[in-house]
Amino acid sequence: MLTVGNPSSNSSADAAAIERRIAGLIARMTLAEKVGQMSQVMAEGDDAPRRLATVLREGRIGSVLNQVEPRTVNELQRIAVEQSRLGIPLLLGRDVIHGFRTVLPIPLGQAATWNPEIVQAGARVAALEAAAAGINWTFAPMVDIARDPRWGRIAESFGEDPCLASRLGVAMVRGFQGDDLSAPGAIAACAKHFAGYGEAEGGRDYATTNIPENELRNVHLRPFKASVDAGVATLMASFSDLNGVPASANSFLMRQVLRDEWRFDGFVVSDWDSVRQLAVHGFTAGDRDSACEAATAGIDMEMAGNAFSEHLESLVGEGRINVELIDAAVANILRVKFRLGLFERPYLDPDLLPQTPPEEKLRIAKVAALQSVVMLKNDAAVLPLSTRRIRSLAVIGPLADAPHDQLGTWIFDGEPGLSVTALQGIRDLVGEGVDVRYVRAMETSRSRATQAFDQAVDVARGADAVVLCLGEESILSGEAHCRADIGLPGAQVELVRRLRATGKPVIAVIMAGRPLTLVDIVDEVDAILFAWHPGTMGGAALADLLFGVESPSGKLPATFPRMVGQVPIYYNRKNSGKPPTQDSVVLIDDIPVGAPQTSIGNTAFHLDAGYRPLFPFGYGLSYARFGYTNLRLSSDELVVGGAMKVSVDVTNLGKVAADEVVQLYVRDLVGSVTRPVRELKDFRRIRLDPGHTTTIDFELHADDLAFFGRDNTLITETGEFQLWVGGSSDADSCASFRLVNAEGAAR
Ligand code: NOJ
Repeated sequence: MLTVGNPSSNSSADAAAIERRIAGLIARMTLAEKVGQMSQVMAEGDDAPRRLATVLREGRIGSVLNQVEPRTVNELQRIAVEQSRLGIPLLLGRDVIHGFRTVLPIPLGQAATWNPEIVQAGARVAALEAAAAGINWTFAPMVDIARDPRWGRIAESFGEDPCLASRLGVAMVRGFQGDDLSAPGAIAACAKHFAGYGEAEGGRDYATTNIPENELRNVHLRPFKASVDAGVATLMASFSDLNGVPASANSFLMRQVLRDEWRFDGFVVSDWDSVRQLAVHGFTAGDRDSACEAATAGIDMEMAGNAFSEHLESLVGEGRINVELIDAAVANILRVKFRLGLFERPYLDPDLLPQTPPEEKLRIAKVAALQSVVMLKNDAAVLPLSTRRIRSLAVIGPLADAPHDQLGTWIFDGEPGLSVTALQGIRDLVGEGVDVRYVRAMETSRSRATQAFDQAVDVARGADAVVLCLGEESILSGEAHCRADIGLPGAQVELVRRLRATGKPVIAVIMAGRPLTLVDIVDEVDAILFAWHPGTMGGAALADLLFGVESPSGKLPATFPRMVGQVPIYYNRKNSGKPPTQDSVVLIDDIPVGAPQTSIGNTAFHLDAGYRPLFPFGYGLSYARFGYTNLRLSSDELVVGGAMKVSVDVTNLGKVAADEVVQLYVRDLVGSVTRPVRELKDFRRIRLDPGHTTTIDFELHADDLAFFGRDNTLITETGEFQLWVGGSSDADSCASFRLVNAEGAAR
């Protein structure tokens, strides 16, 4: 596996040398050149060098984005390095989100692996491929907490939980940056979108967010802090308005939290034109004020706008912005350029890049896809299919053979030509022995036409089983692609019903960029494999899972609601003063006619949906069955500042070897601010042979139990805790302990 480290923690001698070089350079820079470093422009197209030559020569650009033609990249760099006065190299940015040419599952799918190692390995593959195109900076990982499946960008997130998002965000940062940012093949990462973007009202991308500071710190900022601690080179500010102050002008976030508290010394880039959008938010009167507010609040580089380039110099001239503030921003940017080794090696030189054999990249993409698929249902063990028993298989649906759509959102550079579709994967696996018949049935996932359903039904009737590939095309999720109805689009539900009526076993394979509401089909199919958008090797992985070469082992990184009206619904909620129980729920049809108002429920649930999701966070089935026994703690008291061992015996009670994700949750029973009903604190993916038992030891630190209290500082409060270990957030193996101070007193 890849080595890891903290790329920003150069030895102190190196760090001091870099600071000297930064100071030397800044001392020689004109104000215009400084502002140039703070400006990033779009450089698409072959004519970019010609278009940008003058401004590059004048040192008026610090970074370009979206140029991936190696020769053009080098040409742009050559103008900056050899023809500008100070020869400062460019940062070349690109959205390398879940792969470059080789595409891994969407980040939400990667999150379903609960496997930091595979996430890191996938990011390393992406970095190497992107670096080979001349890219030295990616705008990933997105570590926004996403609790709303309507939001299209949940696809790009690691889901709803801060612990999972932190661990996987850090893994991705390490994969991109390696243990030495200056090594060939390493690229700078960017934790985005700082902060709160995932809370967009109504799940509408870019919409306002209102997040109390306590919630912000306890939930949303945690993955950013973890990324900063792991040495992420850059952060991107969010488009959104946070509590009345847009993130791109939010000095609480960028100055107080990021710089003063976290001591971040990389740089912050705005989002695309988000500086000028401050005026659209109604926060500033125009571009000039926007530039002033954004730079003052801590944006170091403006992406794709011209507010900085047009106004910063005169704002300094007028005294509205101090030149020291500009110098600090420039230093932050130059620091990253020095750490990347760009001054020593500005040009792309393919001979210097570490080579990874194509088979190895595909292997990593396949493992990621295999581990990302979540089996939601498997009635009567209809899966795995057996090539001995199945002679004829119907493969039906708009996503069965969709090389582009299985790749998901953000695949600017992905190659659909490399995709192994589900149909292809199945055919490759079963060979001649099984007659595989394919009917697309719907042109796209959104089609309403049902003419082809008769043919699908005919083919299903003649088959031993039906693999029905449903879901969302890639364009239905991602940035600005939000949905108010998160059911299966188009006529898919009808297709399911028609196929159900054949009486054949129906296995739904669902590819989607978000959790979907599946109540309409969950009882109409025998099994569901939820595959997200699984990337290049999705079909090969699905075939292995369908035929039992591997067991499904993905676990949900986000709650699946029954109905969209339950949103937001997430496992680590607060209890409220009237939490629902099985007994307290009265559904709409059970309300006695004429019932007086006070007799119904009196707890927090919906009359038409109850309070439970369809599938909880952390859930996912396997071809094996895992038993959890003998949960024990090294002590029933944990001392503040100390740690304890949490052990559990996990047994594979099934007949096949399989992976399981062992999850540890706690509940802090009494807090000076209310605490979630459960919080994930640790997890481990393990592999177990049938009949085998292994003991899993977690080390739980008292620091893991710290939270931001009433005054929004980090505290560790003594008291009673409950703890669960299991294969889902509704695990029921429970233990208790007390967190005590050194004198042994819990309050
Ligand atoms: C806007 C998106 O919000 C951001 O995530 C992305 O990196 C930039 N555009 C650049 O494409």
